[in-house]
Amino acid sequence: MPCYPDQMTLAEHRGVTTVLSGVPATDGAGVRMTRVIATPELDHFDPFLLLDEFRSDDPDDYIAGFPDHPHRGFETVTYMLAGSMKHGDNKGNTGLLGPGSVQWMTAGRGIVHSEMPQQKDGLMWGFQLWVNLPAGQKMVEPRYQDIAASDVPETNIGENVVARVIAGELNGVNGPVSGVATEPFYFDVRCEGPADVKLPTPEGHSVFAYPYEGDISVGGEEGATVRRGEIALLGPGTSVAVTSDKDASFILVGGKPLNEPIARYGPFVMNTADEIRQAIMDFQAGRF
Ligand code: FE2
Repeated sequence: MPCYPDQMTLAEHRGVTTVLSGVPATDGAGVRMTRVIATPELDHFDPFLLLDEFRSDDPDDYIAGFPDHPHRGFETVTYMLAGSMKHGDNKGNTGLLGPGSVQWMTAGRGIVHSEMPQQKDGLMWGFQLWVNLPAGQKMVEPRYQDIAASDVPETNIGENVVARVIAGELNGVNGPVSGVATEPFYFDVRCEGPADVKLPTPEGHSVFAYPYEGDISVGGEEGATVRRGEIALLGPGTSVAVTSDKDASFILVGGKPLNEPIARYGPFVMNTADEIRQAIMDFQAGRF
């Protein structure tokens, strides 16, 4: 029974705790992008370790790609909005990423992979997200989930609002990504014109919203305006309220926080410094 209306409101819609802008970054062999998580202001947002948005129609910004590099201890998620990249790894996996497709890679105990542009010009646009693994799963066998754009379901969640469900459940629609430790959801939401929607989110998850086209208001009455290229970290609650005045698109992502120590060194994310040293030795000895 709702006895304390204020608390009920608080427990329902998640408020906005922090709004931050991304910072310019270079990664891979010289790909220019915007780093949104893993910045001086936001080292991580448990269980999320990194978020990059790459968006450029200048091939000099992306053509060098991401040649062979290792990972251990977490998952990398690539979501393409435009352009085409080819990935390959030292386990023999290979695949093509196109607009709307997703690659959810569980690096686990270690993998060496590459992601290289398959275009000489035109727009390259998408996201890379790093999702942490719990201590007990950091050394699992590597796993790829390659998901074609046509396998990402869409659902209408309100007037003028369509969501692509990459992971998690929304409106009775399940995303194709499965078996991930932090039980993440990953929605790509498109508002075509004025919109006012509420998206249920699992209680206890860490949740962020990142508009990549247009501006949105998040959090209802306790909310804030979040502009293109800003990340909003959301507080506790069971749903996210979003409004927009005109066309806007955003990703809404959540996952169960691990509350474990984080030791990170470049492409390795473990729990202790000793485990990082071991990762470096294993990689140098060709044990990935
Ligand atoms: Fe990578």
